[in-house]
Amino acid sequence: EKGGYEHFMLKEIHEQPRALKDTLLGRLTDYGVELQEVDLTAAEVNQFHKVYIVACGTASHAGLVGKNLIERWARMPVEVDIASEFRYRRPLIDEHTLVVVISQSGETADTLAALREAHRLGARVVAVTNVVGSSVAREADDVIYTWAGPEIAVASTKAYTTQLLGMVLLGLYLAEAKGTMPAEKSQALIAAVRELPRQAQEVLDQQEVIKKLAQSFIAVEDTFFIGRGLDWAVAMEGALKLKEISYIHAEAYAAGELKHGTLALITEETPVIGLATQRGVYEKTISNIKEVKARDAKVIGLTFAGNKDMHKSVDQVVYLPETLDELAPILTVIPLQLLAYYVSVARGCDVDKPRNLAKSVTVE
Ligand code: M6R
Repeated sequence: EKGGYEHFMLKEIHEQPRALKDTLLGRLTDYGVELQEVDLTAAEVNQFHKVYIVACGTASHAGLVGKNLIERWARMPVEVDIASEFRYRRPLIDEHTLVVVISQSGETADTLAALREAHRLGARVVAVTNVVGSSVAREADDVIYTWAGPEIAVASTKAYTTQLLGMVLLGLYLAEAKGTMPAEKSQALIAAVRELPRQAQEVLDQQEVIKKLAQSFIAVEDTFFIGRGLDWAVAMEGALKLKEISYIHAEAYAAGELKHGTLALITEETPVIGLATQRGVYEKTISNIKEVKARDAKVIGLTFAGNKDMHKSVDQVVYLPETLDELAPILTVIPLQLLAYYVSVARGCDVDKPRNLAKSVTVE
């Protein structure tokens, strides 16, 4: 059942190239995207004043990437909320709001309650989910399925990367309806998206490098994941993964915000994972990494293969295949998943069933 892998998590990490490919199947044309279960006309999209993304845990981290992409491409304002907060906030939504709920299982109680609240307030609801026929899939107006296949490990991996792809597809879909993306840009994006399954495999091929890096985390108590823009969003997912299965305290921080307080916590005892894929802020991120290096932190850097100079600023670098900035999260998270996995194994934790947690959270 584990297909020769020691744990479901490792199997599911390795299924990502296939899961990404399946999630794209039949959805890309040379010029745009086709989403079979989404029935939103351009006129309907144009009457939305804003988008509200609601989810929990890993799915909410996919939502943060979604916000960035939809705002960038479709020029629509987007809010992201955690489902357990959304309901009691008396959210400002109405029939001019597009609510997007993201849920791997489609059964998370908080997310389902948020969906119902959104409907009560008159919003249109699109669900991004991995389970056909789940409560979320049945109750939403439109569905974008992630075709990750069953995810057994408590720590979400292939569901997250396919949710990210769901956000890319939705972003392109909305941008097309709004007429906000030049044809050359969407063609370049689509061409780059098609490369992702192969590139994800290239990242997986570096597994042994990550396994080695993980050994230095055995006795670590605190760690930071830093980055700017989309790298910051991925940092949150990397930190959650490490906390969840290795029980090491990990915090994700916007790289430029460290110096406003948190830098005080950085010592040689707190390894830092520095994510630097976003080209527009690359130099700025490198300066922030130098700030933590100056406090003697050991830094593992993650960047595109072209940024060979990064090794001068960090202790070790993991290089990623080149893609567009917007698509980087799908590749960047893979080494972080592997890192969490190997640290968990090295610390003797129960990788697939971490303490105190359930795969599907059906209580509020
Ligand atoms: O099934 P869902 O996507 O609604 O689940 C949401 C969270 O409970 C889930 O992503 C959780 O955060 C994972 N264990 C993280 O790895």
